[in-house]
Amino acid sequence: MKFFSHFKNSHLLAAHRGYRALYPENSMLAIKKSIGKCDFIEFDIQFTKDNVPIVFHDDKLLRTSNAKEIKGFKKPYNLCDYTYKQLKKLDISSWFYKKDPFFQEERLKQPKKIERIVTLEEVLKLASNEDLLLNIEIKYNSCHILSQKQFEIIVNLIHHYTRENHVIISSFEHSYVSAIKNLSPKLSTAALAHEKYPKDLIGYLKNLKVDAYHINQRLATKKLIKLLKKEGFVVNVYTVNDKNKQEKLFSYGVTAVFTDFL
Ligand code: G3P
Repeated sequence: MKFFSHFKNSHLLAAHRGYRALYPENSMLAIKKSIGKCDFIEFDIQFTKDNVPIVFHDDKLLRTSNAKEIKGFKKPYNLCDYTYKQLKKLDISSWFYKKDPFFQEERLKQPKKIERIVTLEEVLKLASNEDLLLNIEIKYNSCHILSQKQFEIIVNLIHHYTRENHVIISSFEHSYVSAIKNLSPKLSTAALAHEKYPKDLIGYLKNLKVDAYHINQRLATKKLIKLLKKEGFVVNVYTVNDKNKQEKLFSYGVTAVFTDFL
């Protein structure tokens, strides 16, 4: 059974970096708050200097943490220069409470709980207890290309804590989804595309052996979606917060939209 066989209908909502309109992105709080409000939960992972896969979006620490204020952190604030123990000192929530990036009045009523970086392992434990379906996006980090050992760490954690059909792995770095597929052929994978795609897209995706294509909404034309579906690929689109746009995409044959609002 593949990841998308879990769903009877195809109008799916994926929580983008957890429930990030109301809670700090990629935090345990945002992930927990999305439970029951979406069909699956998307979050990003990267490796620390001491090889721990953690949940975090940017390769630099500045936008979503207080690294500037914490002793031991310095320019250029690259996540990969720090150990998990160091990174755990960071507050990844206060920036969000101050900035309120989605201008949600409802958020003002929420308690301002300090959140710390969580590991992939912690999220997989939660997924195992709550029977969650997850989209793990492996970030490309400019510090280093992931090694075979690091792919093995990811796959072993997935096998240890959850069933492989409960997870889909995606990445903008398509060699990463290939590496995961080679290690664990039954795991579902998706290639991500932001601005453009190769001319021979179908041949390219078949070669990658991906199950799905995750595209930016700018690329999501009716013609492209129809072609991908005809060739057997699931098409999911990010990040679509407008309800009318979501419905339009579903009418084109899109299976899931990634959204900040649940
Ligand atoms: O995985 C879908 C979407 O999250 C990709 O964009 O920038 O949030 O990683 P980004």
